[in-house]
Amino acid sequence: RYFARATTEAQVREAFAKAKKLGLDVFVLGGGSNLVISAKCFEAFVLEMGIRGFSRAFEDEKAVYIRAGAGENWHAFVERTVSLGFAGLENLAMIYGTVGGAVVQNIGAYGSEVGAFVHSVTIYDASKNETRELSAGELDFSYRHSVFKDKKDWVVLFATFAFARDWEPNLSYEGLKKAVGEKPCAREVMDAVMALRQRKLPDPKTTPNAGSFFKNPIVPKAEYARLIEKIPDLVHYDIGGARLKLSAAQLIDKAGLKGVRREGVGTSEKHALVVCNFEAASGQAVEDFARYVSDTVFERFGIKLEPEPVIVPAHPFFHEGE
Ligand code: EPU
Repeated sequence: RYFARATTEAQVREAFAKAKKLGLDVFVLGGGSNLVISAKCFEAFVLEMGIRGFSRAFEDEKAVYIRAGAGENWHAFVERTVSLGFAGLENLAMIYGTVGGAVVQNIGAYGSEVGAFVHSVTIYDASKNETRELSAGELDFSYRHSVFKDKKDWVVLFATFAFARDWEPNLSYEGLKKAVGEKPCAREVMDAVMALRQRKLPDPKTTPNAGSFFKNPIVPKAEYARLIEKIPDLVHYDIGGARLKLSAAQLIDKAGLKGVRREGVGTSEKHALVVCNFEAASGQAVEDFARYVSDTVFERFGIKLEPEPVIVPAHPFFHEGE
């Protein structure tokens, strides 16, 4: 119903005050790259985060700290840090969206998660109408999760990232290790990540998509033992403890759903985890297709796939009692 773009903290406060008067919730929009709008009318006050900024905040013996506005384009930010000789974020190159979105979603790729590089965040807390600093320890980062998923009144205004002086390339992802030489610099790692992404993932500029549509499911080890009977080459990632992470892409692929299309929406032929909107279908059609994928995987393998993008209006992906 309502839309505003904020480029300053004052404008963020103003938008919240207006929304309050209108009796509407505020929905903070970053780059929109991980968002599915599944209704024709969204009864909210949409606030596009446009706060810019890039500065060297401070440094100590361990790291150099760079502060960026939440509205900065994420990939441009990564490139700029690498170009200036600050290494750390190169594995997270070419992810669409903004700095704020990257923190909220705790984006991850090729063995890195952004949470590991966040030093602190400046937030506007709408419930108290105040601005304050939160340290990384207060942000509750885990796989594609941060405190901001639960605290809808907290808006990221700025984020400060630590670039360690004792940087080592993170080549834990097999395909990345193969693509670079023995001791690559951050620029070489970034170039290899970009080449991998271009090769493996559909380009959202020509094939609209929101990246991986489902989170990789985390299951008890017993569940893994049960599934390997059905899928002998079952992919798994050790995450420590009694649980394992499985590959949602592999489960979708093994369920025979790679490259399948229904009513203009389908999974990519390049990568089973990416749901693409091939024919300008509605958000509702995208959500319906995703539910079909998730239901089919559940019927075949007994695993529930949860969506990774934010779906608005918010409602549980699974029906009550399922
Ligand atoms: N696979 C298949 N069929 C396919 C594609 C992949 O069987 O069509 C198998 C692969 O053989 C591989 C496994 O699935 O063994 C995992 O595939 P991949 O390495 O491509 O990674 P992913 O688990 O599908 C995750 C992230 C990506 C990130 C990549 C690389 C999630 C939900 N997705 O994907 O993030 O780029 O790892 O690190 O965690 C995103 O979040 O939007 C995203 C693209």
